[in-house]
Amino acid sequence: NKRIIIDCDPGIDDAMAIIMAASHVSDLRIEAITTVSGNVGVDKNTKNALRICDLIGLHDVPVAMGANRPLVRQQLVASDVHGKSGLDGTALPEEPVKKLADEHAVDVLVEKLMASEGDITLVAIGPLTNIALAIRKEPRIILKIREIALMGGGTYGNRTPAAEFNIYADAEAARMVFESGVAIAMFGLDVTHQALATLDKPDELKGIGNPVATAVSDMIAFYSGAYQGKFAGAALHDPCPVAYLIDPSMFELEHIRVDVETKGEFTYGMTVVDFKGVTDRNPNVQFARKLDQDKFWKLFMETIKSY
Ligand code: BDR
Ligand code: CA
Repeated sequence: NKRIIIDCDPGIDDAMAIIMAASHVSDLRIEAITTVSGNVGVDKNTKNALRICDLIGLHDVPVAMGANRPLVRQQLVASDVHGKSGLDGTALPEEPVKKLADEHAVDVLVEKLMASEGDITLVAIGPLTNIALAIRKEPRIILKIREIALMGGGTYGNRTPAAEFNIYADAEAARMVFESGVAIAMFGLDVTHQALATLDKPDELKGIGNPVATAVSDMIAFYSGAYQGKFAGAALHDPCPVAYLIDPSMFELEHIRVDVETKGEFTYGMTVVDFKGVTDRNPNVQFARKLDQDKFWKLFMETIKSY
């Protein structure tokens, strides 16, 4: 099975990514969960990661708190989508039982990667601040990371017409990561908007009847509010890179050059995707274009039923 570290900002869809990864023990082994400022502040995101671990009984995986702000830009949050707590909609206990690790997330990333045989994949589903800082602190991790499967970017935006939240929230960090030479599998809005939880999903989930199903159903019901009127359902962005690691056959990917804009007045945080091979810069990203939606939902439902 693949060893992974989940770098996240839970976040409703981050929570679902953790839930999916943790249930597939024969495919994935979670070495650590590291948290970053993003959907809400890093303290709340961290608390939420611990609350999710409590919910699913993930007792032996360390959770380490990371960067509390982006590298350069002002902090930006998405409490309009995930609620004030970052996990609104659920009736989970507010205070987690699980304890936070003592170490900083960046140190956990560096130590685990340097001690590895180059077999750890990073699942990056928040702004890329921690990963950029880890590369700065110990550049030799570049040769140790097997792959970064990340949710971010796309050929259009959700925070600005050009930029997706995770990239926009720390474009300087994203740029460092995209230019690092590490293998990247990118799940941007083009493909995550194919993973839509339609309005019937909360009821279907509730019918499963276990506590995880109830929590996920409540979260999706809340989160759907942000998508209503614009989309046919709520996009489950962050489970996409996890689904890819479990079953890559559900995605169509293209090896392509992607660069991150950090200067544009209207385009800060945009991922510039060279579909037509216009630049001679080396391809640096496996860009996910298409999702087999039936396979995705089958996996999602199986995941929730397994609890
Ligand atoms: C991304 O932004 C966050 O709000 C979600 O958790 C996801 O990682 C989608 O743009
Ligand atoms: Ca996220």
